[in-house]
Amino acid sequence: MKLIVANWKMHKTRAEAGAYARELAATIGGGIDGRELVLAPSFTALAEARDERGRWSIACQNVAAEAGGAFTGEVSAAQAREAGCRYAIVGHSERRRLFGEEGPVLAKKLQRCREAGLTPIYCLGETLEERDAGETPAILASQVETLASDPRELPLVAAYEPVWAIGTGRAARPEDAESARRLLAGLLAGRTDFRLLYGGSVTPENAPALSSQTAFEGFLVGGASLTPAAFAAIARA
Ligand code: PGA
Repeated sequence: MKLIVANWKMHKTRAEAGAYARELAATIGGGIDGRELVLAPSFTALAEARDERGRWSIACQNVAAEAGGAFTGEVSAAQAREAGCRYAIVGHSERRRLFGEEGPVLAKKLQRCREAGLTPIYCLGETLEERDAGETPAILASQVETLASDPRELPLVAAYEPVWAIGTGRAARPEDAESARRLLAGLLAGRTDFRLLYGGSVTPENAPALSSQTAFEGFLVGGASLTPAAFAAIARA
């Protein structure tokens, strides 16, 4: 079962999310065989993005590092779970780069997800400078270290998202993505239940090659997930 996740980032009002959900439902009918679909809207649109018929589930894009209390502006993992989320994206490169989230805070977020019963979609990947310096294996290893306290037997989704490929229109070549996937599979070998996704400028055009020439178990899609037709085409690829 391949997992295809739509990361809408800070796009879509509630009305737009509702319209998207209706259009996606019309596009996929009873669902897409062999595919698990997930929509990750803003917190405000979680309700509108849900599918009563269960053809897709919903994820939040972030959770607070604390379980609850005086943390103005934060949303807890338990609140996201109660709002219907099954998954939570943790450690997206935009959170790492723009909001300064690093290993220790991400480890706390992972722990909050587990306490709340959310499955984390843990994102990791190297920058272009790190890649050019040959540091990809070391960077991935240090980002996997953040999972050290995460129970090995619990299901985990990890998304390899090279920073230079996110939102740039320049997806990784399948062979580069696949070599990173192998590294990650090795680093996660002690775990019993994990799926590896590729993310970074996935489109309906490049999804077939990324799917057939790598062993990733799905995609994390940003820009191209904003229209139901493109998202469904990627899922079918
Ligand atoms: P992109 O974003 O598909 O627009 O590159 C992917 C992501 O940030 O998860």
